[in-house]
This record gives sequence, C-alpha cells and structure tokens, in this order.
Amino acid sequence: MGVILDVTDLHIEFHDHESPETAVEDFDLMLGKGEIVGIVGESGSGKSMSALAIAGLLNRHAISKTGKIMFQGQDLLTCDRKTLRGFQGDEISIIFQEPMTSLNPVKRIGWQVEEPLYIHHPEIKKAERKKRAIDMLYAVGLDNAEDVYYMYPHELSGGMRQRVMIASAMIGNPQILIADEPTTALDVTVQAQIVELLKKLNKERGTSIIFISHDLSLVSQLCERVIVMQKGNIVESGFTKDIFTHPRDSYTKKLIAAIPKIDI
Ligand SMILES: Nc1ncnc2c1ncn2[C@@H]1O[C@H](COP(=O)(O)OP(=O)(O)OP(=O)(O)O)[C@@H](O)[C@H]1O
Ligand SMILES: [Mg+2]
Repeated sequence: MGVILDVTDLHIEFHDHESPETAVEDFDLMLGKGEIVGIVGESGSGKSMSALAIAGLLNRHAISKTGKIMFQGQDLLTCDRKTLRGFQGDEISIIFQEPMTSLNPVKRIGWQVEEPLYIHHPEIKKAERKKRAIDMLYAVGLDNAEDVYYMYPHELSGGMRQRVMIASAMIGNPQILIADEPTTALDVTVQAQIVELLKKLNKERGTSIIFISHDLSLVSQLCERVIVMQKGNIVESGFTKDIFTHPRDSYTKKLIAAIPKIDI
C-alpha cells in the first residue's frame, strides 16, 4: 500500500495569549492509500487541531508550527498558498460535527454540493456540474437526490445534512477525507448509517479516511489503525484490534473501560 500522507513531528502552538500554548506535540501520522485511520482521545486532546493542520485550515498567523505534512511531494506547512488552496476541498476534504453550521442556510443543497467543483474545476459546464452533484447525492444514499438538489438545509434531517456534507466533500473525488466527529450530533442508528456510508465510499472510490471520534466502538468498526491522543500527545498507536485487546497505555485502558460493551 502506497503512502498518501506522511505527517511527522507536527507541533502546534497558539500565540493568542501572553505565553504560547501547546495544542499538539510530536504528532506523527502515516496514511496509506485507501486506508482508514482513526484518532481518538478526550476533549481538548488535539484531535481537531491536528486534522485542521492537515486540511491546511489552521490560522497561519496565530500558530507557529514545526514538523512536516507531506502530501503529493509537497509539505503542506511550507508550500505556497496557491498549492495549498488547490488541494483544499479537492484533494483533501474535511467534514465536521455539525453540518448545520457548515451548510449555508440560504443556499440550495445542489449549489453547496457543486461549489467545490465550481471553485476547483471551472472548466466543467453547469449542466455537467448538476449531473455530478445529483449522482453524488445518490451515492451518499439520498434516494430523492433530484428533489434534495433544490432543497434548503432546514428541510433536511441531521443525518441527511451530514450526507450532503459528505457529498460536497467527495464531489472532487479527494485522495483524503478527514471526518472530524461526523456522527457525534446524530442518534445511534443514523451514526451507524454514516459509518457504513464512509466504509462504502472508501471501498468503492479508494478514498483514504482520517476518522476522528470519541466513540471507540465506532472507530473499531471502521478503522484498521488508530491513534490515541491525550493532552496534545499521541499516547498509543497501532492496529485497532491490538490496541483494543492489549492496550499498553493506562489512558487507553481507561478509554476502553469506559465503553459500555464492545464487539470486535
Ligand atoms: N484559539 C485557541 N487558543 C488557545 N488554545 C486553543 C485554541 N483553540 C484550541 N485550543 C487548545 O488546543 C487544544 C486542542 O484542541 P482540539 O480542538 O484539537 O481538541 P479535540 O481533541 O478536537 O477536542 P474535542 O474532542 O472537544 O473536539 C486544546 O487544549 C484547546 O484548548
Ligand atoms: Mg475536536
């Protein structure tokens, strides 16, 4: 399996207070082509900051960083802005916890799914864009895609909105999809459906996925490998199965003990 993303020694600091605050330290992540890797850890452990850095969405002025984020021969931390913008939302996409805040309430769903294509591939004609958006809405399991295309976010359920976000993130056929707690705001049944959808997209399209979650049982269903973070550091990483059956770190043990019941 080829390596698609190689993050080494990532260090993220905030400089918006008197003294710099470290959010992430010595973060390493190697993502194989077509692989799904999980990141788990308590609130504030640095999961989102690491994800945002990979997506190129950290505020460059407020934060100083060391390390490397290698993607397609470029270091995303030092490459020029144009290269980074070219990757964002096209080769590397990210979805977040609450789709209502990511979707624009006054724009139709169709447009929001198409927009990344409009930005990154202006050569694609309007009719073709629409066709691809509708195909993508079907691909994420929205059976009434032709109607959904004309709807507004408030007309959809939370689960449908997350599917729309995934459609928008996937329309450019990215190499990497980062899903930052994509199911946390959803009820259990819908959570499972979204996990199944991510699995399906990974399998059919070969998209590599970084799946961030508090929910270790979801991670174990989806991810072959997992990274466990605590207070900005990786405390353990390896095959999900090994870590679940033989956790070495006391923090990981605590996380696993907190799961009501787990089947792997
Ligand atoms: N603007 C900021 N200034 C200073 N520190 C910040 C800022 N934003 C985030 N942090 C800190 O960065 C650290 C990592 O936060 P991060 O959002 O990555 O955690 P997380 O693991 O995603 O948590 P959650 O599970 O709650 O989403 C936290 O300690 C947080 O307090
Ligand atoms: Mg987070």
